[in-house]
Amino acid sequence: MSEETRDSDSGAERCERGERSDHDDDRTRAQDLSSLDPERYYDEYGYEEWDRLEATLGGHLEFEGTTTYLERYLPNSGCVLDAGGGAGRYAVWLAERGYVVTLVDRSRRQCELARAKAREHGVADRVTVERADLRALPFADERFDAVCCTGGPLSHLTDEANRERALAELRRVARPESPVFVSVMGRLAVLQNLVRSAEYVPGVPAMAESGTYDADFAREHLAHLEEPGFTACHFFRAAELEAVLESAGFDVGALVGLEGIAANVGERQDLADLEPDAVEAVTEAVRGLRTDPAVVDWSNHILAVARA
Ligand SMILES: C[S@@+](CC[C@H](N)C(=O)[O-])C[C@H]1O[C@@H](n2cnc3c(N)ncnc32)[C@H](O)[C@@H]1O
Repeated sequence: MSEETRDSDSGAERCERGERSDHDDDRTRAQDLSSLDPERYYDEYGYEEWDRLEATLGGHLEFEGTTTYLERYLPNSGCVLDAGGGAGRYAVWLAERGYVVTLVDRSRRQCELARAKAREHGVADRVTVERADLRALPFADERFDAVCCTGGPLSHLTDEANRERALAELRRVARPESPVFVSVMGRLAVLQNLVRSAEYVPGVPAMAESGTYDADFAREHLAHLEEPGFTACHFFRAAELEAVLESAGFDVGALVGLEGIAANVGERQDLADLEPDAVEAVTEAVRGLRTDPAVVDWSNHILAVARA
């Protein structure tokens, strides 16, 4: 498969929409939980990670919301860490604005794509890509003028102690008082998707309680699915995100619902099928309500803007 080929329908999309897998009728085969390993999942997800922020209305709103807050809170210049930066959408965006960017990601494939995208966009001289884990960042203390951890890397740590470790690392490498942007996946939005599908309903009470989707969850509640969708993920409530950031020593300035009132709707709408005026009208309405606490909690992605 070429680097630029997209799967027509990924496990992530199926799970996030709460739909059945392709093989649901074959109940005799062993459950395949390989996609629950985030490293493997993102290696296989490949180019789709670059594409996702401009493929759908939901992706557009996530990117537009995140970059709005980056523009508002970033210093005018400096070194920025893009932690769990995937295929480099934000790294390229930042480098195009003059920042010196270091992207780290655990997926070898995403690192390769990020290097290729930095070259393709003519910013390779300002983007360094290193394969590394959020929980053990290979950088000196207070090295960065700003830190981004967007699109859910923290959500892919399903163990609470690992999330705490990652947040301690993000704070350690950030200059004191510098802005730190962390976005995670929202629990209420995923619950709404699970409720939509009879196949995923057995997992609803446990998801409501713990927010954690992992191999134990799949074995216990989704044993009837040969191949549960998506990858291991902790889905957050907004207050929970604020609390863990504060416990890690961050000062939380803003909580933002990136998809806002278009949560769980925008991800089903291809951007190419929509009139630009309609996209702008929805975007404007989403902008106006993004920090309403109810809207924040219902979003697919919740962004926290904090100070180290
Ligand atoms: C949905 S992508 C987000 C990419 C990009 N930051 C964005 O906002 O579009 C999540 C990324 O987090 C990475 N990731 C997950 N767990 C990680 C970890 N423990 N350390 C480093 N990267 C991780 C994945 O490999 C994946 O590229």
